[in-house]
Amino acid sequence: MRSKIVAGNWKMNKNGTETEALLAELTAKLPNTSAEVMVAPTFVNLSQAVTATQDSKIEVIAQNMHDALSGAFTGEISGDMLKSIGIQTVILGHSERRAYFGETDAILAKKVASALEQNLRIVFCFGEELEDRKTGNHFAVVKSQLSNALFSLAPSAWKHIVLAYEPVWAIGTGETASPEQAQEMHAFIRTTITEAFDATIAQNVSILYGGSVKPGNAVEIFGKPDVDGGLIGGAALVADDFSAIISAI
Ligand code: 13P
Repeated sequence: MRSKIVAGNWKMNKNGTETEALLAELTAKLPNTSAEVMVAPTFVNLSQAVTATQDSKIEVIAQNMHDALSGAFTGEISGDMLKSIGIQTVILGHSERRAYFGETDAILAKKVASALEQNLRIVFCFGEELEDRKTGNHFAVVKSQLSNALFSLAPSAWKHIVLAYEPVWAIGTGETASPEQAQEMHAFIRTTITEAFDATIAQNVSILYGGSVKPGNAVEIFGKPDVDGGLIGGAALVADDFSAIISAI
């Protein structure tokens, strides 16, 4: 049985005071749900967020990490550092990391291996650009992103992986993939994993959809059989909206 998950990616938003305020509001408004609820504040506020949520069901997760354990990598954060402040899960491969910070599939494969060594759970993001969809290349692009970063893993690693399909053209644009487009891609992802590994792994991995999920479209998107939840950007910064999206699952 795979988990239902709603995760909020706060990106580079909310300073320390605002983080405390949003978490307090969210904790107060959190709907009763059997789904897992995660939020990813910026690195500097993680420790504070872990403390602020210790009596709630919200899991605080990280947005990124470096693949090395320690060393001369000015400005970077390791998985070991995340673990040491109580973080259990890290987002890797977000399209903004790929586009603005040069994260390639090869770099991501190293990050995935390092996170697994640290016993961290991974929310692995991937998705095609608009041009890929226009030219009908979207399935091939998604397959290669998955294969390059994840298909050399041991089968046992998959219990630590959550997938997040985020078509780049739907992120922060207000344009969502239709529920049918999301379902079609999620089903394709499961078939691809079945071919590379087996049906049990494919059926047990949670696949989240991300890209302009809002209270108004969440019920329809989450209603699709292969969509196990969402990775939410803008709407996760508003407690009422994020709570409504959690209720939708
Ligand atoms: P939006 O929900 O703002 O489109 O962002 C999605 C996203 O990038 C989550 O990681």
